[in-house]
Amino acid sequence: MNFYLRQAGFDDLELIREWRNKEHVRKNSFNQHYVTKEEHKDWFSKLNKDNTKQCLIFILEDVPLGISIFSINHKHQRANWSFYLGETGLPKGTGTKLGFASMDYAFDNFKVQKIHTEVLSYNLASLKFHDKLGFVLEGKHKKHFLIESVFYDVYLFSIFREGWEEKKDNLLMIIEKGNNTSLQG
Ligand SMILES: CC(C)(COP(=O)(O)OP(=O)(O)OC[C@H]1O[C@@H](n2cnc3c(N)ncnc32)[C@H](O)[C@@H]1OP(=O)(O)O)[C@@H](O)C(=O)NCCC(=O)NCCS
Repeated sequence: MNFYLRQAGFDDLELIREWRNKEHVRKNSFNQHYVTKEEHKDWFSKLNKDNTKQCLIFILEDVPLGISIFSINHKHQRANWSFYLGETGLPKGTGTKLGFASMDYAFDNFKVQKIHTEVLSYNLASLKFHDKLGFVLEGKHKKHFLIESVFYDVYLFSIFREGWEEKKDNLLMIIEKGNNTSLQG
């Protein structure tokens, strides 16, 4: 595979902040304010010392393109996942590769039985993306997130270890087929 995740370090900080402050990331995040250098450094310093947090950079063909952040609840063997691609206009299927690498990494490296996420109702790309990865909708928080006088629903997704084991070979085939298609133009 020409894509994987690696641990983020202090050298990645400015790149992560640049991504985090982009419009397409901010509007789909639960904190939508502009992140200053100082706030960002504090966030990463705390995260780095916290054994419940993992911050990973998604690499495709040697280029860093996005991020996956896991908050692990060791007691209940579950992890909350947040992620984004730092750029727009990337080839179709790039997000699926990030998702594949992230699920594979999490179930291989963390002692968890479940990964769960929260998605804003208007984030159609992410809703579709979760379905493609094999996540199941557990429910939603109704009118849960307020932006400029409008309350939006928040969808709750999860995937269990068994679900991922069932899904991953097929997903890898889809990813590889996509690679071939783009090579053939
Ligand atoms: C969510 C995200 C990772 C998806 O990445 P991506 O590169 O578009 O994903 P893919 O190209 O692999 O597409 C995955 C599926 O979503 C669909 N999709 C992508 N963009 C879409 C859109 N704007 N509307 C509807 N469906 C969309 C694709 O068609 C594909 O399904 P298909 O294979 O059945 O056609 C990316 O859009 C992103 O980082 N967004 C900004 C941050 C964000 O939303 N983070 C998640 C917060 S919960």
